Amino acid sequence: DAAEKGGYPDFMLKEIYEEPRTIRDTLAGRMVNGHLQFDELALNYDELAAIDRVYIIACGTSYHAGLIAKNLIEAWSRIPCEVEVASEFRYRNPIVTPSTLVVAVSQSGETADTLAAVRDARIKGAKVFGITNVVGSPLARESDGVIYIKANKEIAVAATKSFLGQVAALTLLAMLLGQLRGGLTTAQIRMLFRELADTAQQIEQILADTDTIEAAALACKDAQNALFIGRGIGSTICYEGALKLKEISYLHAEAYAAGEMKHGPIALIDPGFPVIVVATKSPTYDKVISNIQECKARGALVVAIATEGDEEIKKHADYVIYIPKVRDCFSAITASVPLQLFARSIALARGCDVDQPRNLAKSVTVE
Ligand code: G6P
Repeated sequence: DAAEKGGYPDFMLKEIYEEPRTIRDTLAGRMVNGHLQFDELALNYDELAAIDRVYIIACGTSYHAGLIAKNLIEAWSRIPCEVEVASEFRYRNPIVTPSTLVVAVSQSGETADTLAAVRDARIKGAKVFGITNVVGSPLARESDGVIYIKANKEIAVAATKSFLGQVAALTLLAMLLGQLRGGLTTAQIRMLFRELADTAQQIEQILADTDTIEAAALACKDAQNALFIGRGIGSTICYEGALKLKEISYLHAEAYAAGEMKHGPIALIDPGFPVIVVATKSPTYDKVISNIQECKARGALVVAIATEGDEEIKKHADYVIYIPKVRDCFSAITASVPLQLFARSIALARGCDVDQPRNLAKSVTVE
């Protein structure tokens, strides 16, 4: 066991440290002579060009990777994209036709609800792409095309490196659709690819200094509840940050789009209530600062994930966790790392087993 952990105290930490490699391996071979390579998708470009709707279906953490991808797919290809948890998708009557592209995301490739949704979609004539970590898994076998994330085996129940691999793979797919639809030029694709690849090194930078993350976690460890807020891409990261905390520390955590605070969650805030805010530089940065001020005015303990060099935020937050400056959409990758470490530190401080949380399984192969 100790040997398998490679000197790390738990698999979760080991797997978080494998994230830069996961990004690098997931991107390896994907850009050749300035062009995206997806030979294994057996792309029929005419079919793909006819796609008029994308559904991303998944469960758990994989669903959150889908929420991020929706933003990129719509921005770059202008194809309407919906993200749905597989257990809902399969039991309603979604609008799926032969011109629908279903993207099924599953680390294990064997989640029962996701597979059932894929089967239903194929019966309706949709084209299905699978994004998975497991070669030869049922999802890989049953999809029209597969993009493998190269996370290698993930042992901790709570997904970490596979999530980053999924976001990287989905980003590539969004770039490909953008290229097909003329939403992105070849020059833009190259630039985006380079910046996406740079996130590996940026994650290493985050992992090199985790003191503030630890300190913020200790300040929050005895809370009963926590709220994660952000806007845009920032809000999607919050869903995953809250899930990680729930899964491994058993602390009740909720994620909200920050603009919705005034419609309910702000009623929860009392002195010392932890509010974790994704406040990286983005088009809605100023709005997020206003949301922080509203929380502070009610006594919240604010932990902010912010962009390196942002001095302003120190006036508003109790703890500021800095991450390198990246394009807004790539903050989905970089900002997720401190949130994973934050959840792990709280779980450990509460005496929880971070690799094997109670009641949870690594893959859910029955309904
Ligand atoms: C379980 C795991 C989660 C995972 C989810 C979906 O709940 O504990 O970590 O995100 O299943 O699994 P999948 O293999 O389909 O990504």
